[in-house]
Amino acid sequence: DDERTQLRSRIRRLLQAQNAVLVAHYYTDPELQSLAEETGGYVADSLEMARFGTETDAETLVVCGVRFMGETAKILNPEKRVLMPDLRATCSLDEGCPADEFTAFCDAHPDHTVVVYANTSAAVKARADWVVTSSIALPVVEHLAARGEKILWAPDKHLGHYIERVTGAEMLLWNGACVVHEEFKSFALERVRKLHPDAAVLVHPESPDEVVDQADVVGSTTQLIRAVAELPNREFIVATDAGIFWKMRQIAPDKILIPAPTAGEGATCESCAHCPWMAMNALQNLEQVLLTGDQEIRIDPAIRERAVVSIQRMLDFAR
Ligand code: 13P
Ligand code: SF4
Repeated sequence: DDERTQLRSRIRRLLQAQNAVLVAHYYTDPELQSLAEETGGYVADSLEMARFGTETDAETLVVCGVRFMGETAKILNPEKRVLMPDLRATCSLDEGCPADEFTAFCDAHPDHTVVVYANTSAAVKARADWVVTSSIALPVVEHLAARGEKILWAPDKHLGHYIERVTGAEMLLWNGACVVHEEFKSFALERVRKLHPDAAVLVHPESPDEVVDQADVVGSTTQLIRAVAELPNREFIVATDAGIFWKMRQIAPDKILIPAPTAGEGATCESCAHCPWMAMNALQNLEQVLLTGDQEIRIDPAIRERAVVSIQRMLDFAR
């Protein structure tokens, strides 16, 4: 424990000396989330992480999350240095949507407006008309559908299908999925709900339809956290990455949080739903990157120039 305290103080000093801030996602290790908060950084969902990066005066952003979050930060802040504890932290949605195949798909449907989820590479964003995160996907698509636009959506088929069902928009869907949320089991969730009939069910929209259908609230990580604080229920069944429990407990310590099951037999297990790439962020490699400066995000300027347009469109819409 002494060692851990010393490690945290060394990181604190390094951040200060380099005018650097931590921007962490809710799915990262609570050690990182708490350190971000204690050092003037920020813990957030992917939309707010992007926004915070543009608002801080810090010269270096240390993004604790997955690669697309670091890339978005760099695209929006080309003058800032953007580091990550481990650049290999990817995302199954990003991996499942290679830029060349995606470009061919878009080229085959030139009459569609291209909307991509933030969980994609910079090159995919460069081909898009709009970037959206889970917190803003619904209103953006509603807005486009109201103008009569047909939508090409990538890469998350579950989120895409959810948006399609709610908005009634005409959407062509890429066949991608999040390996973490796809594991939630609807049958087992039904059993857990029977055991906790008064619990509100909170679901991230990257989950399969049959899980989303059982939700009281469907939303981004920030929206799910807010629901825990605002709904009168005492118990909550939560279908998203277990990293989120730290913030939920912090803001609503009296509430009872039950992880949604990722295995059959009504089993619940808090450590089951956890993104392996988010888990690549730790205090140790955070200190390392501050010492060495390697693991720096770099974006091809030609790609950056186009990707910033679709990301900025989202930020302007969100205002
Ligand atoms: P949020 O934008 O809701 O934080 O989601 C990001 C993500 O990767 C969810 O798996
Ligand atoms: Fe990607 Fe899923 Fe991990 Fe989020 S939880 S970063 S969508 S793999």
